[in-house]
Amino acid sequence: QSITFKKADHLKEKPGSAKLGFGKLFTDYMFEMDYSTEKGWHDARIVPYGPIQLDPAATIFHYGQEVFEGLKAYRTEDKRVLLFRPDKNMARMNQSCDRLNIPKIDEKFVIKAIKKLVAIEEAWIPSEPGQSLYIRPFIIGTDAALGVHPSATYKLLIILSPVGAYFGNSMSPVKIYVEDEFVRAVKGGVGYAKTAGNYAASLKAQTKSEKLGFDQVLWLDGVEHKYIEEVGSMNIFFKIDDEVWTPALNGSILPGVTRASVIELLKKWGITVKEKKVSVNKLFKKAEKQKLKEVFGTGTAAVISPVGFLKWEDHVIKVANGKTGKLSQKLYDTITGIQSGKIEDKLGWTQ
Ligand code: COI
Repeated sequence: QSITFKKADHLKEKPGSAKLGFGKLFTDYMFEMDYSTEKGWHDARIVPYGPIQLDPAATIFHYGQEVFEGLKAYRTEDKRVLLFRPDKNMARMNQSCDRLNIPKIDEKFVIKAIKKLVAIEEAWIPSEPGQSLYIRPFIIGTDAALGVHPSATYKLLIILSPVGAYFGNSMSPVKIYVEDEFVRAVKGGVGYAKTAGNYAASLKAQTKSEKLGFDQVLWLDGVEHKYIEEVGSMNIFFKIDDEVWTPALNGSILPGVTRASVIELLKKWGITVKEKKVSVNKLFKKAEKQKLKEVFGTGTAAVISPVGFLKWEDHVIKVANGKTGKLSQKLYDTITGIQSGKIEDKLGWTQ
């Protein structure tokens, strides 16, 4: 299917290399495509960025039938545009669609749409260190119907936002509060899907942790409140002596693209990676014995986010003296190096 293009009457002023923040500015164009039972996905188009009209009864507003993705485009020093593992994001989008009862997308076609949109908006890709063009594809149920049923019609949109480092300086270690009351997701639920409700469910605990003087929460499992799942909206890793541990994917944890990339890199470097159940009790015991060397979160937005401090009930841990560990830094440098074309991509991760 072809993608039509509608030119904007006027273009916005680009932000220059000033501090961009995360997801606050949007480019001149967006991609839009509709779904109906009769036509399937149709009417693929790139149109001027702006508000969309929806019926107030649309499914998305009442029952949250939605999935989204996040990935980044970089402009290299020799002026090529690189996407980081878009095939992984599109495969995950279809897994999320499956869980949310949303019709699947043609992964290759949506990658083509992303490439076309990014090519049109190439001048919006910032190129200072840590900066990139964040790509946010999402699908919403649009039926005007209050019965609790899957929508028969949907809209897929792709918007673009020039971004800086997710946390002002992405490599300054964060303070984490182990959340033992609220949970993010449960097995059998939608934790492994990238869907709005998971993020809505996280907000109260996030606000609570900020009130207590922390940056993010560490999520525990929804049944026993014992096993570590994620940190904030990221996956989490622990360097314990010479090994790296991360919670095994169990249905309630989001299968991160950065998580998968970190595991692949570590294995390539000859480091033992264990995907396993990690209890918070065991983690704090390892820390007591001085075996916990580094802790870091992984995600598309921040890439690698070192953790410098953890609090669980009355116990506190200072990790790596509150500094960024060597392995965290090496992973950050390697992944952002490959993403931005500064390091040769021998793994075929960029396209
Ligand atoms: C990420 O990219 O790490 C996230 O999941 C955060 C995003 C929802 C802003």
